[in-house]
Amino acid sequence: GQAPATATLSGDKPGPVMHRNVFGQFAEHLGTGIYEGIWVGGNSRIPNEGGYRRDVLAALKAINVPMVRWPGGCFADEYHWRDGIGPRGKRPVKVNTNWGGVTEDNSFGTHEFMGFVEKLGAEAYVSANLGSAPPAETAQWVEYLTAPAGTSVLAKERGANGRSQPWKVQYLGIGNELWGCGGNMRAEYAADLTNQYSQFAKSTNGPMLKIASGPSDSNYDWTETFMKISGKHINGLALHYYTRPRDKDWSDKGPALGFPEREWASTMAHTLQMEEFITKHSAIMDKYDPEKKVMLAVDEWGTWYDPTPGSNPGFLQQQNSLRDAVVAGLNLNIFAHHADRVKMAAIAQLVNVLQAMLLTDGAKMVKTPTYHVFDMYQPWMDATTLPIEVESPYYHNAEFAMKAVSASAVRDKNGQVHVALVNLDPNRPMPISVAMTGVQATGATGRILTAEAMDAHNSFERPDTLVPVAFDGAQIANGTLSVTLPAKSVVVLALR
Ligand code: AHR
Repeated sequence: GQAPATATLSGDKPGPVMHRNVFGQFAEHLGTGIYEGIWVGGNSRIPNEGGYRRDVLAALKAINVPMVRWPGGCFADEYHWRDGIGPRGKRPVKVNTNWGGVTEDNSFGTHEFMGFVEKLGAEAYVSANLGSAPPAETAQWVEYLTAPAGTSVLAKERGANGRSQPWKVQYLGIGNELWGCGGNMRAEYAADLTNQYSQFAKSTNGPMLKIASGPSDSNYDWTETFMKISGKHINGLALHYYTRPRDKDWSDKGPALGFPEREWASTMAHTLQMEEFITKHSAIMDKYDPEKKVMLAVDEWGTWYDPTPGSNPGFLQQQNSLRDAVVAGLNLNIFAHHADRVKMAAIAQLVNVLQAMLLTDGAKMVKTPTYHVFDMYQPWMDATTLPIEVESPYYHNAEFAMKAVSASAVRDKNGQVHVALVNLDPNRPMPISVAMTGVQATGATGRILTAEAMDAHNSFERPDTLVPVAFDGAQIANGTLSVTLPAKSVVVLALR
């Protein structure tokens, strides 16, 4: 039989809290991510609550989405917030030059976004335009958002537009991908501008954390320069890293469905690079910020495949399968291991774009396997991480080799311990025994997400092909948790 994996879980050595906003979401004006996916307008035949889709709101509330980043992405550095306020019929109609060249009628703007996060009970992450607007534009947007009722001209204008009370802005993004679509800048120049924009953006309604446009992947020079020049002026540095099965050429990323096992393996191996990127960026940040005041905000992550055949390639629409569920589990485990530095993250993206939680088609909606993983990991939000070290046999395919099992563990506010175990081997079940110290538990119940096919997925016709089911295959005896993880599965256990 299969050599077992082993692990040690140290309940007596609690680590940092995993901030709930690590389960944050990214929603850009891109494809049907906002229009149709969230916003259909009050006159739509699709059931809605003041213009927001009811099915989408209900699904997102059920996973307690803690934070949403908006309006981009690349879109943010071409967005002018004044286009999106005032009577909807009078807002300027523009072209979305980044994403498909489609019409942007600005009917979803500041009030609609802040209303959306308010309905979700989520925090707002507003991404400001540094690339193509002056610093005053950002300063005025923040004032419009946060100034006390009836005070300044902008607060009065907000009131006239239907909202007298200020909003709370938890995070302000200072530009996006300034090394690329945000303006093709050198790090030194971008860091200077970051300090300037950040200086004049002042919230008058509670703290607003400023997140700088950070590195992508392994761009450690960017992190070094930013920490040196801007480390004292920002609260966070963004990290973007996307998983592509084929990572040589952006025009050939590999299909979302119907892929060979080799691309399952490459997808897992590439996802696991997140561990190395976070570790190395964190080490640079530690040099300038040993007290870890500046967070690493992984505010774009997830899979990026070739678009669904027949769809507008500018819409970044893709199916989401069991492979995505396993990718989500691996990344969430990595974030848990780095809870000291990674205090916020946003998967790309919320609805209909890249590794989405939900897919819609007209009035239809379906929850993706990734949605279900976010659901299963809910106990991780604001819970105390516990160290868990795994020794696992390797999964090999083509030139790829990696540990088959990934794990994370937390203790929630009620003292209950939760363990997540991912077996990324698509062929072999994996027995694992977890020796636990400082954990009083005699049994475990939980849920599992798995399927026969590597690309099992939910369609509008069959929305429940891949849903979590009860899992009772775990035992605890003499302080050791024993379980056999089915091939390609995500298992989340609650100990009792
Ligand atoms: O998420 C899609 C795009 O990916 C974002 O707009 C951009 O920031 C990144 O390159």
